[in-house]
Amino acid sequence: MPNLLAGKVGIISGALDERSIAWKVAQKAYAEGARFVLTNAPLAMRMGEINRLSEECEAPIIPADATSMEDLEKLFRGTQEHFGGKIDFVLHSIGMSTNIRKGKHYGELNYEWFQKTLDVSALSLHRMLAVAEKQDAFNEWGSVVALSYIAAQRAFLDYTDMSQAKAVLESIARSYGQRLGKLRKVRVNTISQSPTKTSAGTGISGFDAFYEYAERMSPLGNAPAEACADYCISLFSDLTRYVTMQNLMHDGGFSTTGISEEMVELLTNSKG
Ligand code: NAI
Repeated sequence: MPNLLAGKVGIISGALDERSIAWKVAQKAYAEGARFVLTNAPLAMRMGEINRLSEECEAPIIPADATSMEDLEKLFRGTQEHFGGKIDFVLHSIGMSTNIRKGKHYGELNYEWFQKTLDVSALSLHRMLAVAEKQDAFNEWGSVVALSYIAAQRAFLDYTDMSQAKAVLESIARSYGQRLGKLRKVRVNTISQSPTKTSAGTGISGFDAFYEYAERMSPLGNAPAEACADYCISLFSDLTRYVTMQNLMHDGGFSTTGISEEMVELLTNSKG
C-alpha cells in the first residue's frame, strides 16, 4: 500500500550515515509521501553526510543537541513554521555512551559519563515530548517512536550504562504515552531492535559476538535496519492508531527463544 504517510509531517533524528536506522526511516518515510525535518547534533553535522539525505528527501535540516531545551524548542518551532502546521510523527533515534566509547567495563563506569549517557540517550525523549507538549505541536493521532534494545530487560554487560538508558527510555515512553494519549491522542512506543551494524552498534565492544549470537538464536535471523524502518513507518501510519505505551520487539524472535538448533549444534561440535 503506497503513500501510507501521505500528508503527514514529522521530525526524524539520528541519521548520521547510510548505515543509520534513521537514514532508512527517512528514505522510506519520503517514499510513503511524508514530509519531514532532519535533525542531529551540531557535532554530527560536521561530517556532512546528512546533506545528501536532505537533498534526496527534500527535507530541511535543523541541528539540535538533544540535551538542549533551547535547541529542541527551535527544532519544534522551526518544523512547524516550515510546514505551516503541527506535527504528526517523531523518530527518536539517538544513543551515545562515553563509557562504551572509552571501553569502560561495568565495574569502572565514570559517573559523569553515565549521567551524560542517560541525558543523551533517554531523557532526550522526555525533553522532546515536553517541548512538543508546551508548544502544542502535535496533531491528534500523532505517533512517536524511539529505538531501544533488549539490554533494557536482560543483562548484556558490554552494553554497560546504555542498558540503564534503554530501561529509562522505555519507561518514559510509557509514562509520556499515557499523558499524550489523554491530552492529544498521540501514541508513544519504543521498538526494541536486533543488533544492527551501524556506527552506534559497532562501537560496542564484543558487538560481532552479540550480532552472531542473536543471528543464531533468532528463528528469523536478525532484523536488518531496513525492516526496522518499515516497522517505524507502520507505527507512524494510521494503521496502528491504538498501539501505544508499548515496547515492541523487532528482533526476529530472539527475545522469546530459549535455545536454537544452531546453538545446540555449535556447542555440541565445540565439545568435539
Ligand atoms: P547511529 O550511530 O547511526 O545513530 C545514533 C545517532 O545519535 C547519531 O546520528 C548521533 O549523531 C546521534 N546523537 C548522539 N548524541 C546526540 C545528541 N546529543 N543530540 C542529538 N543526536 C545525538 O546508530 P543507530 O544504530 O542507527 O542508532 C539509532 C538508535 O537505535 C539508537 O538509539 C540506538 O541505541 C538504537 N539501537 C541500535 C541498535 C544497534 O545494534 N545498532 C540496536 C537497538 C537499538
